[in-house]
Amino acid sequence: MEKKIGIIGSGQVAIALANGFVKHGYDIMVGTNDPEKYADIQNKTSASMKVGSFEEVAKFSDLLVLAVKGTGAEEAVQRAGIENLRNKTVLDTTNPIKEVPPSNGVLHFFTTLDESLMERLQKLAPDVNFVKCFSCVGNVFMVDPNFGGTKPSMFICGNNDDAKARTKHLLDEIGWETEDMGKVEAARAIEPLCILWCIPGMIRGQWMHAFKLLKLY
Ligand SMILES: NC(=O)c1ccc[n+]([C@@H]2O[C@H](COP(=O)([O-])OP(=O)(O)OC[C@H]3O[C@@H](n4cnc5c(N)ncnc54)[C@H](OP(=O)(O)O)[C@@H]3O)[C@@H](O)[C@H]2O)c1
Repeated sequence: MEKKIGIIGSGQVAIALANGFVKHGYDIMVGTNDPEKYADIQNKTSASMKVGSFEEVAKFSDLLVLAVKGTGAEEAVQRAGIENLRNKTVLDTTNPIKEVPPSNGVLHFFTTLDESLMERLQKLAPDVNFVKCFSCVGNVFMVDPNFGGTKPSMFICGNNDDAKARTKHLLDEIGWETEDMGKVEAARAIEPLCILWCIPGMIRGQWMHAFKLLKLY
């Protein structure tokens, strides 16, 4: 399998994943809408890494990560070009965080428990194989999370089994235990884990944690 990943987005998540994936031998292209950010992105990543527009990133690889602000996720998919993403695997890191202050550390979402952001993206681009991934952990833990020998759980979901198998392969490589929660509707349950993950940080300044599913099967 070709080791190439395109990352649509240039924020903390995009940079953390880009630098982490490079350590695992991947060829990476990071994307921004803003050409004025190219030099800054290049400074934060390795010299071998490519920087381009969302559209160029979408064409770069058939394995992509969507790492943009939740409120801009649908626009980002459109800017990348739905045709450029057709039949490709897109790991969706986004959370539908509303731009209002949290209530006692609890973030507000602009979606409901009956419709997640990933379902909106899937409706917008039905032929794209979205897989929810990386949405409920801080960016510092996304690649090679170190919890003293315990592998944390990454909850994923999506409609395409091959895309999820590819995601699991990547997650195995970078130190995660994959928990497949089913089809796209499961994003209604996975996305709100971001709210839970953030609470200790918001109310006590504790951000160094990840979820683990304990099982007797
Ligand atoms: N920060 C974390 O640790 C963390 C952890 C888990 C999940 N997440 C989720 O991951 C996503 C990325 O988070 P982040 O912290 O890296 O950065 P962010 O500030 O949420 O997003 C930055 C990116 O969003 C793009 N963007 C903003 N508004 C847009 C719009 N209207 N249309 C298209 N693109 C737009 C920006 O494009 P330009 O490059 O053109 O400026 C930039 O690339 C978010 O959805 C967040 O909820 C974050």
